[in-house]
Amino acid sequence: MRSKITIAIDGPAGSGKSSVSKIIAKRLGLLYVDTGAMYRALTLKAMEKGINLEEEIMLVELAHNTEIELTHREEGTIVLLDGQDVTEKIRETDVTNNVFYLARAEGVRECMKKLQRKIAEKGNVVMEGRDITTVILPDADYKFYLDASFDERVKRRRKELEQNGRQVVESGLSKDIKMRDKKDLTRKIAPLRKAKDAIVIDSTGMSVEEEVETVISYIK
Ligand code: DC
Repeated sequence: MRSKITIAIDGPAGSGKSSVSKIIAKRLGLLYVDTGAMYRALTLKAMEKGINLEEEIMLVELAHNTEIELTHREEGTIVLLDGQDVTEKIRETDVTNNVFYLARAEGVRECMKKLQRKIAEKGNVVMEGRDITTVILPDADYKFYLDASFDERVKRRRKELEQNGRQVVESGLSKDIKMRDKKDLTRKIAPLRKAKDAIVIDSTGMSVEEEVETVISYIK
């Protein structure tokens, strides 16, 4: 393996990209960067401050005046928002439902781009999100687009929620994922796209371990 590598991974919700990225980072001794957590942290702050999420100027100002840090501990990535641990809070349904307001704001994305590129500058990272292979790190050493069928993604999400002790309404779950897909794919700025030169992996029917092995088989 080369001395410093950068791996960029994109894909829709439920494609397995977070689980796979985490394991790959651990196995290869790389830094894991969850960019979705950054958008989630900003969303939480905007909600807590009672900012009108339709007001893009306010969101951009907020992004410029917020410190987001991902630190790594034995138990996993800890998300710090202005120094406060918000690792659990950013996974709440309200945050998930509102994150698109921040994700569609051009100025917010510009701010995140700077921060994410700065983190990746030193190399030896696995960065995952929606625009990593296309916008943030188009020159990454390895670029992957992870996908899975809609039904499989719903199934995985259900399992994840159940494991976290949450109650699941099947029809609501499908609707939520469909809505998130639509928002990620159709926003004007940096929508989710397959980069032309990304390796596409469809993990339908694969276990996380099989998906990890498939990704790692491409990394020299
Ligand atoms: O990966 P996630 O589901 O935690 O991401 C939450 C939201 O953040 C996702 O619906 C879209 C947005 N996002 C984004 O726009 N760009 C990224 N690079 C990562 C996430």
